[in-house]
Amino acid sequence: MNLLVLSIAALSGLGALLAFLLEVADSYLGFYGECHIDINEGERELVVHGGESLLSTLMEQGIFIPSACGGRGSCGYCRVKVHEGGGPLLPTETPWLEPEEVKDNVRISCQIKVRGNMYIEIPPELFLIKEFRSRVEALYDLTDQIKELRLRLIEPDTITFKPGQYIQFQVPEYKECPESVYRAYSIASTANEPDGITLMVTKVPGGLATTYIHEVLKEGDEVAFNGPYGDFYLRDSDREIMLVATGSGLAPIMSILHQMAEEGISRKTTLIFGARQKKNLFYLEEIEAFKKRIPGLEVILALSSPEEEDRWQGERGRVTDVLEKIVKNGANKEAYLCGNPAMVEATVELLTKKGIPEELIFYDKFT
Ligand SMILES: Cc1cc2nc3c(=O)[nH]c(=O)nc-3n(C[C@H](O)[C@H](O)[C@H](O)COP(=O)(O)OP(=O)(O)OC[C@H]3O[C@@H](n4cnc5c(N)ncnc54)[C@H](O)[C@@H]3O)c2cc1C
Ligand code: FES
Repeated sequence: MNLLVLSIAALSGLGALLAFLLEVADSYLGFYGECHIDINEGERELVVHGGESLLSTLMEQGIFIPSACGGRGSCGYCRVKVHEGGGPLLPTETPWLEPEEVKDNVRISCQIKVRGNMYIEIPPELFLIKEFRSRVEALYDLTDQIKELRLRLIEPDTITFKPGQYIQFQVPEYKECPESVYRAYSIASTANEPDGITLMVTKVPGGLATTYIHEVLKEGDEVAFNGPYGDFYLRDSDREIMLVATGSGLAPIMSILHQMAEEGISRKTTLIFGARQKKNLFYLEEIEAFKKRIPGLEVILALSSPEEEDRWQGERGRVTDVLEKIVKNGANKEAYLCGNPAMVEATVELLTKKGIPEELIFYDKFT
């Protein structure tokens, strides 16, 4: 009996040891050896060491796939078509994929590992995404929760982007963050000054990137980012424009307002900027200046919980309360929304009920 127990224990121990060795081999020794990745039927051919996620393998080779959550499987942005070598669909991928996408071999590239030769397909414009080195030119408080971060480019020394797009900021290792991570931040500045970009960053308690930006980063430091990404940009049409922002969601909207002022776009436009209290509003002088430069622009500031001392004369309520009041119907309108997911979801629901087709409502959710 004792012999049987001992044998079972020895076998389990051996199994555990083998699993451990496999894990070590997988992580450190490039266990899958040399793998070939064919991108877009020969447009690029990569020879890489297997074992890492497809997303980070591509990134190491200078091919940047949108990945707003930095590879944690919580944004669903890092879609890539994997026609061969992707292995079976994983449970961590299915929440992000429609049945049609599964049929088209779309995969969540941060979740699948490179384990052998692969044939993948990516939009060719992703080859244009670059990695930038930059220096912190200015970093200061816009409110007690939001900082403005101005980056001057070092290499490459200019960036081309569409107003409304975002970059992925690289957070280096620091005390709270044992390995480097990436997070998405929208560009707030004009595309006409391509030697730098401005970001607006809201502090998230315990957040890796925002703690770094709010508490560790200093003027003069060097930081890296890649981009630009995203399809949140002003469509060329004659429709009336609804711009809706809360908090640092104002960032891409500011970039779009710069574009409208610079290109003389005079379409009827309403900006609704919402916050809880007056102390949470910012950039009011810049917004006022845009009213003079953009003939069709009307601005509505709304506070959801103004304090007594705010002596608030403007709109009260959430941005959805304002929209409920001012949008009579959705005819000939398009909307651009940016801010926290709850605001974006509630606003999409309201505007579609008012008759703005879903395909004319563009948004970035700050997940
Ligand atoms: C396309 C896009 C553009 C974005 N642009 C901006 C921008 O211009 N400015 C900006 O400030 N942010 C922006 N974000 C959000 C940003 O990418 C990060 O998710 C955010 O800054 C939190 O990162 P973190 O590393 O500090 O927190 P994490 O370490 O990722 O998260 C820490 C914890 O906080 C939770 N959490 C994460 N975000 C929030 C939140 N907003 N509120 C409450 N809890 C949260 C997480 O679930 C986690 O439990 C954007 C996101 C996307 C997808
Ligand atoms: S990077 Fe966010 S799900 Fe893959």
